[in-house]
Amino acid sequence: MAVKEKIDGIISSAAAGVEACASVDEINSLKVRYLGKSGELTALLRGMKDYPAEERPAVGKLVNEARDKINALIDEKFAQLQAKQEEEKLLEEKIDVTLKGTATPRGSLHPCTLVKEEILSIFTSLGFSVAHGPEVETDFYNFRQLNIPKDHPARDMQDTFYLGNDILLRTHTSPVQAHVMEENKPPIRVVCPGKVYRPDDDATHSPMFQQIEGLVIDENITLCDLKGILECFAKELFDKNTKVRFRPSYFPFTEPSVEVDLSCSVCHGKGCRICKGTGWIEVLGAGVVNPRVLEMSNIDSEKYSGFAFGMGIERIAMIKYGIPDMRILFENDVRFLRAFK
Ligand code: DAH
Repeated sequence: MAVKEKIDGIISSAAAGVEACASVDEINSLKVRYLGKSGELTALLRGMKDYPAEERPAVGKLVNEARDKINALIDEKFAQLQAKQEEEKLLEEKIDVTLKGTATPRGSLHPCTLVKEEILSIFTSLGFSVAHGPEVETDFYNFRQLNIPKDHPARDMQDTFYLGNDILLRTHTSPVQAHVMEENKPPIRVVCPGKVYRPDDDATHSPMFQQIEGLVIDENITLCDLKGILECFAKELFDKNTKVRFRPSYFPFTEPSVEVDLSCSVCHGKGCRICKGTGWIEVLGAGVVNPRVLEMSNIDSEKYSGFAFGMGIERIAMIKYGIPDMRILFENDVRFLRAFK
C-alpha cells in the first residue's frame, strides 16, 4: 500500500529530525511541523475522502499510529533536552559557598558622641532627664529670657550668626533652660545636649560645637548643691581623685556665677603641658540661677532657687582623650576615628 510507505517515510524523517534537534526550541518547531494543523499527517487525514471507503479505517489507523509514535519520540527528546538545559543552567549559576565574603566594614561612634553619651548617662543616673530645644532660636529665648536684654554689653560675650531680625543660630544651650522653665513646674532637673553656633574658628574654637546644659530648680537649692553634683560628675567622668574648683565669674543668667576648673586628669595637679603648668583645667561655666531669670519664666523666686551649668562637649573630649586641636574632631579622618573603636 503506497500510503503505508508514505507514512513510514514521514515517521523516519520525523525520527531523524528529532534526533538532530539540539534545543527545546528546535523540538517545539519540529512538533508543529509534523503534528500541527498544516503538518503532513494532518494533510493525509484531510485527503481521506479520496480513498475507497473500505480502505479508510486502515489508513486512519496508520495515521493515528504514526502520530502516536512521532509524539512519543518528540516527548522523549523534549524531556532529555529540557533536563540538559536545566543542568547547564545550574552549572552556569553555580556559586562557591566556601569562598570568602566581602565584609562590610564596621564603623565606630565619634569621640564626641561617646563623651556626650557618657555625660548624659552620668546625669541621668543622678536623676536628671534629657531635654532638647531648637537650633534656630529667637533672640527672646537665646538672650532676653536669660537676662541679656538688647544692647546689653554681655551680648559681646557670644558672637552670633543672625538669620534675620530676632532669629539666630543659638549661641549656647542655655535657651533650652528657658523653654524647660516655661513648660514645666519645679522641681526641675534636666540636662540639655545640642549643637551651638558662633563665628569663631581656631585650634580651640569651631563655628559649630556642642554643649550640655544643666538646670536644677527646687526649694533650698544652693551653690553647695552645684558643687556636690559637679564633683560627683567629675569623679565619674575622669577619676575618683578629681577635684573641683570654683572661680568667681559673670553670666547674666546666674548670680553668683562661677567658672569651674577640674584638677588636671593627666598630671593630677602637678602641672603639665595639658593644664599649661597650672594643675587645673577650665571646663564649664555655672552658677545659681538669677532670680530675675526665674521670675521671667513665672517661677516664684521666693520659694524656689536653682543652679545651672553649661559645658562644651568637644572641650571635654579633648581633655579626656588628650586631643590637642579641636579641628581634628571635625576632619573625620578615619585613621583618627578608628582609635575610638
Ligand atoms: N551659656 C554659657 C556659655 O555658653 C555657659 C553657661 C554658664 C551655662 C553658666 C550656664 C551657666 O547654664 O549657668 O558660655
